[in-house]
Amino acid sequence: MNTPSDTGLLRPLASRLSAPSTGNNAIKPGTVYLVGAGPGAADLLTLRAARLLARADIVLHDALVQPEVLAMAPQARLVPVGKRCGRLSTAQHFINKQLVDAAHHHSCVVRLKGGDPMLFGRAQEEISALMAAGVPVEIVPGVSAAFAASAAIGQSMSLRGVSRSVVFLTPAVGQGETPHVWARAAAAADTVVLYMAGRQAKDISEGLMAAGVPASRPVMLVESASLPGQRLVPTSVAALPQATAALGDGPCLILVGEVYAGLVDLAIDAADAPAATLARMAAG
Ligand SMILES: C[S@@+](CC[C@H](N)C(=O)[O-])C[C@H]1O[C@@H](n2cnc3c(N)ncnc32)[C@H](O)[C@@H]1O
Repeated sequence: MNTPSDTGLLRPLASRLSAPSTGNNAIKPGTVYLVGAGPGAADLLTLRAARLLARADIVLHDALVQPEVLAMAPQARLVPVGKRCGRLSTAQHFINKQLVDAAHHHSCVVRLKGGDPMLFGRAQEEISALMAAGVPVEIVPGVSAAFAASAAIGQSMSLRGVSRSVVFLTPAVGQGETPHVWARAAAAADTVVLYMAGRQAKDISEGLMAAGVPASRPVMLVESASLPGQRLVPTSVAALPQATAALGDGPCLILVGEVYAGLVDLAIDAADAPAATLARMAAG
């Protein structure tokens, strides 16, 4: 049986990809960097991401990427290729083609994706298309929304004696895809982080309870984590549909688990959430 090193899976993507053997005169394509833009706040970008933005020729970016982050690439051509529920979006196959085309015209192409590119970001389709076209591709990780939300709440997703497992999941499915049995995975974990779920609160609440999650299990809604419009709404699985009325139209995560127990009783707002958590812990 082949090991990962036999098959080259442990080598960086860029070195696995030598340009197709089209002769010595062939022009080599540039490199496409799939870069995590983090949850929103520009200073949560990694140094590597900032350095790449400063030298990018072209930046193809998601809808959720903030103007302050794009401002870090003043020399680059900016191309929005965003997708947001219910709004005009660019088809994935067209984005793949744009990336390949860009690599044939530029040496440094940045594909900027919200949060971390490797989580609910359709990175694999882009990686596959680039590899098939012989375009070198590298991935730069970013801070995923779950981590920014946890920082905002001031509550760890794991907690000794309470939460040993954390699951990141989305109930969202693509066209023609079989609906995922997400609730079963949610019921099996101590803490659940639901992405792309804010507009389906009623289904989430009912799905969780049908899978055996107690109606009283605490829930935290976190909208626009790390951004000026950040909003935290404590609730429970049963009351989730009503609680979403307090949200605006920013991106939102639903965090479910006993780790949020003390917070549900606290009237917290975005500014004092971590302080409130610390005060609760200090009080024992
Ligand atoms: C297509 S997914 C991309 C997730 C991204 N790759 C990540 O690692 O965070 C977009 C979803 O992430 C969540 N999200 C992204 N940014 C957020 C933020 N600043 N605050 C809360 N949720 C956010 C929302 O659930 C949104 O619908």
